[in-house]
Amino acid sequence: MARHGLSMSERKYFVPCPLGVEDALEMELKELGANRIGGSPGHRTFFGPKDLGYRACLWLRTAIRVQEQLAQFEARSEQEFYDGVYSLPWEQICGQERTLSVDASVRNAFSKHSKYVGLLCKDAVVDRIRDRMGSRPNVDTQDPDLPLKLTVQEGKVYLYRNLNHKSLHKRGYRPIQVKSPLNEALAAGLLILSAWDRKSTLVDPMCGSGTFLIEAAQLALDLAPGLGQNFAFERFHDFDPIHWASLRQEALDRKRDTHSLPLLLGADRHGGALEIAKKSLAIAGLRGLVSLSQSDLKAFHPEKKAKLVITNPPYGHRIGTDTSDLEATWKDLGDFLRRECGGGVAWILCGNKELTRGLRLRTERRIPVRNGPLDCRFLKYSIRRKEDIGK
Ligand SMILES: C[S@@+](CC[C@H](N)C(=O)[O-])C[C@H]1O[C@@H](n2cnc3c(N)ncnc32)[C@H](O)[C@@H]1O
Repeated sequence: MARHGLSMSERKYFVPCPLGVEDALEMELKELGANRIGGSPGHRTFFGPKDLGYRACLWLRTAIRVQEQLAQFEARSEQEFYDGVYSLPWEQICGQERTLSVDASVRNAFSKHSKYVGLLCKDAVVDRIRDRMGSRPNVDTQDPDLPLKLTVQEGKVYLYRNLNHKSLHKRGYRPIQVKSPLNEALAAGLLILSAWDRKSTLVDPMCGSGTFLIEAAQLALDLAPGLGQNFAFERFHDFDPIHWASLRQEALDRKRDTHSLPLLLGADRHGGALEIAKKSLAIAGLRGLVSLSQSDLKAFHPEKKAKLVITNPPYGHRIGTDTSDLEATWKDLGDFLRRECGGGVAWILCGNKELTRGLRLRTERRIPVRNGPLDCRFLKYSIRRKEDIGK
């Protein structure tokens, strides 16, 4: 018999995130008041009431999706699978006038074909609603009212409804598709893992399109990343618009005054990247709140000493293929840190460990993370003050 959670006040949620920032996601979930947090690499699960799902979409910076579990059951055959899906009270979840889609993935299941299993799931849902209500909902793969996510693994079936249509990392502040941008959810996760106090000066000396700086400003202002977004759950059968409006109002009220923002300083030698950063800041409502300079590392003198330097330098897989250039850049980065950032901490994302030697600094911590297709390390360095060197 399929177990479903719709009638229960406690629901189970499944939240994928970029690999490596699970601890940051967990911190965010604890802050939201999530219960029984669990999970493995690439995701976290938690329990909580319906409004916690709404809160998760509104507030989570490191999540890619928020999925609410509708059912979990075992199925070793097509018939068992169909019956399990059919047994759910779909007439309470969907309704005949709505549209739905099923995104299925299967591994070691009764069928190898995800598309086929997805269709079988859709048939069971549609048959149940037609049997109970006389007519059936339609399928809409582009813009469904009910986007279902199905995973069948080793005889176990997990059925969710996606609370968001588009990935949560798409905050909406990028004016155009840029080369080698950092995924927004990854950038936010790395900022959280760096334990930045959200009050002291932060510098990204190779800021590119400014992802770290924008995410840092949003963190420091306590700005909910989901405030300007529409979510799939707003079209659900059981959507509670009054509660959602109060959560959004609470988020608006929480937003700190921009006067409280610490100095956020960015530089890059590439003027085009800085133009994109400026546009993104404007779209994010942060115009004038981050200082950007067009400068090479060698000539960059931040107006105030940074407590935290956080940066994603080139490491050769995507931009800059000449390794000697890259070696020089990493050496310049080490020099910049010693020259300008003594007494501070640097966190550097790196996808090529050979290059880190150029920094001539001792790595204090290494956190493995995945940046798109690349296995990277997020590396921590404490920068000694010039006057302490040799002591
Ligand atoms: C991987 S990209 C950073 C991407 C950025 N995190 C983002 O979200 O768009 C590396 C950046 O380093 C800049 N860069 C490379 N060498 C530099 C140097 N010597 N001085 C300043 N910037 C440099 C490049 O122009 C590029 O924008």
